[in-house]
Amino acid sequence: MMDKPVTSAAPAPKAGILDIAPYVGGKSKIDGVSEPIKLSSNENALGCSPKAAEAFAEAQAKLFRYPDGHANPLRAAVAAYHGLEPERLIFGNGSDEVFALLNQTYLEAGDNIVTGEHGFLAYRISALACQADVRLAPEPEQRIEIERILDLVDGRTKLVYVSNPANPTGTWNTPEELSELRERLAPDVILVIDEAYAEFVDEPSWESAFDMARGHDNIVVTRTFSKIHGLAGLRVGFGYCPKALIEAMDRIRLPFNINLPAQAAAIAALADQAHIDASKAQVTSWRPRLVQAIRSFGLEVGVSAGNFVLIRFKDGEEAARANEFLMTQGLIVRHVANYGLPNCLRVTVGKDAENEAFLEALSQFAAQACV
Ligand SMILES: Cc1ncc(COP(=O)(O)O)c(C=O)c1O
Repeated sequence: MMDKPVTSAAPAPKAGILDIAPYVGGKSKIDGVSEPIKLSSNENALGCSPKAAEAFAEAQAKLFRYPDGHANPLRAAVAAYHGLEPERLIFGNGSDEVFALLNQTYLEAGDNIVTGEHGFLAYRISALACQADVRLAPEPEQRIEIERILDLVDGRTKLVYVSNPANPTGTWNTPEELSELRERLAPDVILVIDEAYAEFVDEPSWESAFDMARGHDNIVVTRTFSKIHGLAGLRVGFGYCPKALIEAMDRIRLPFNINLPAQAAAIAALADQAHIDASKAQVTSWRPRLVQAIRSFGLEVGVSAGNFVLIRFKDGEEAARANEFLMTQGLIVRHVANYGLPNCLRVTVGKDAENEAFLEALSQFAAQACV
């Protein structure tokens, strides 16, 4: 037997890992408040479909079985619901995992991804773990600008991420803008269009990129069951991708990445159109009311296509004070400083009483602080 080398070094993560800022999710507790109103994670105010909850409970009897490693019944249900080819779908433990699979499959050290400066953090974390660079394109109007994205693309760019609509800004890009972006990217650069909030959009100038993706070999469109379907806790998302990309990603995808109760609940959720419609209506009826009320308090709020609104305060200090004040009233919203927006709070559309409580508290803050 060889002698063990004598060393005092502790295990060290590879270069760059400890430079990655840990992801911080929306808060869910306030000290001393037993049931805070949580409007911080863009979850579905109405929860999941009762049919999905039932399917989840029924799955108990099968917990000793491995799940279907290709999620075939779920694949068939998603394909039928959205009119997509089943073989062009890849499922992830949340759409987060689809981003991680794309990054792990296509990025080498020294490559780069390009996204907007306020882009969703999940794109960046796994790219950095691949020792790739993350290039952030300015969003002067808090909206992705195609020209600014293209300015940063070079020969080492492997992926461009655009969320449409975007979190946390709530802004969106038109189909014409996305077609132009695709046309001006080299064919070996993957354009990922993240449509996590697609179902809440009510804007005639927005369109899903599924059809654009069908005709091209370098477009991925992602969707999630965490938002409209209210299944954030179960972690199911998917990508609609060219087959060659799926074949590559499938080499490294964990074989049973979508667990059995999650598959059952997701299938049931898709079959409950009444719940999907009610979830959308909750957002589309409240979103303009929230915007109008917030503006009437003298605060600035952008038009949003997602299930949330973004409020802009005078500066970061005022946003932090508003956040603290709302917490004293039992309300948790999200201060989005880590998205490069220190003067903003993002608020998810909640249930009726939650939205009313939020508006009441914000009006009190605005009356004391902003005028
Ligand atoms: C823009 C965007 N994309 C993707 C996701 C992640 O979804 P999932 O829960 O499917 O990982 C979120 C979640 O907040 C999001 O805001």
